[in-house]
Amino acid sequence: MKNIILILALSISGFSFGQGNTHVQAAGKYEGLAMTPPMGWNSWNTFATNIDEKLVKETADIMVSSGLAAAGYNYIVLDDGWMTKERDSEGNLIPDPAKFPSGMKSLIDYVHSKGLKFGLYNCAGTQTCAGYPGTRGFEYQDARFYAKLGIDFLKYDWCNTQGITAKEAYATMSNALKTAGRPIVFSLCEWGDNQPWEWGKPIGNLWRISGDIYPCFDCEFKHPENWSSWGFMKIAEMRKDIRKYSGPDHWNDFDMMEVGNEMNDTEDKSHFAMWCMLSSPLFTGNDYRKMSKETLAILTNKELIAVNQDKLGIQGFKYSALDGLEVWVKPLSDGAWAVTFLNRSDAVRKINFDWKKNAFKDADFGYEADFNKTAFKLKDLWKNKDAGTTKKNFTADLASHDVVTLKLIP
Ligand code: GLA
Repeated sequence: MKNIILILALSISGFSFGQGNTHVQAAGKYEGLAMTPPMGWNSWNTFATNIDEKLVKETADIMVSSGLAAAGYNYIVLDDGWMTKERDSEGNLIPDPAKFPSGMKSLIDYVHSKGLKFGLYNCAGTQTCAGYPGTRGFEYQDARFYAKLGIDFLKYDWCNTQGITAKEAYATMSNALKTAGRPIVFSLCEWGDNQPWEWGKPIGNLWRISGDIYPCFDCEFKHPENWSSWGFMKIAEMRKDIRKYSGPDHWNDFDMMEVGNEMNDTEDKSHFAMWCMLSSPLFTGNDYRKMSKETLAILTNKELIAVNQDKLGIQGFKYSALDGLEVWVKPLSDGAWAVTFLNRSDAVRKINFDWKKNAFKDADFGYEADFNKTAFKLKDLWKNKDAGTTKKNFTADLASHDVVTLKLIP
């Protein structure tokens, strides 16, 4: 009887023991660390495993001096490749001394001294995707290491995970981070294979919803090893219907951006507009040291960032599509809306949008705009100027792969 009471008491208080360690697990993620989509820089898209302390320091310096930090970007995240190929004899991870000769702690202190935050990467499997030591079986030890280093963000990948269950693996690491005692944003990178949007909310603050992005508008890039990377419109399309699962502190993550990489400025503009419309986390993935002024202007567009960071945190949806001319809409706070006209075709498209013959209805979140009842003022967020009202048709010629983003103000 005593035993039964003890078991009951332990389960009511939420205690459980997992994966062969004897730590008491704390239940649930650190709440409230990402009430708007996190913004920052991640090393992977441009540098893969070619990362070092000079790159990180220069990136942090430019994040501040260029105005990116003032625009809201504040996480510097080192992706795969920051460790040595083996753990030490006590099972500890070792930041690669050749890449980080001054030590990871001093680099993190440097990033913090600039008023920025710092993130690292690891993997739920036995090895990371690039073949460095994974966390499987070392969850609590690694979490304590990260807490001691003082990181603020952990991206946790899904390679080499044969035979384990995604929900359990991510819950274990989430509990390990909580138990380690430092608030660390937990970024699930499980590619959407096991529908993390259905179970990720109590576990993490954001979750990837697709395989890797590729720097193209709408392509599929097939890797020889039988997996694909995706153009940004492919990812947007793939996951436009899981919007009800995204919101403050639990974001659908459409992947690190390719703005400033291999697309032209028009496509970069569309890519950025879509990530803002979709309330995706905004992680830049370009080389700041070679950034053009056009790229910087796209990434720091205050009005677009405000759409992304709107406090309602609602992922936008595709309202209509005709001949490649798509209309994406997003309810904003204070009765406003963002509307993006996007030309997915290869030729110029004429926009002639009669508001009065249209009405926006957001069935998932219960917002509506009826232009016969309410007139809105229009602001063009790329030109930063007034664009009339919904009493008149909105007209424009839209080049191939270009966007117009309007804010509708009641
Ligand atoms: C996976 C992830 C990428 C990146 C690499 C690193 O492919 O999806 O974002 O982290 O691993 O190896």
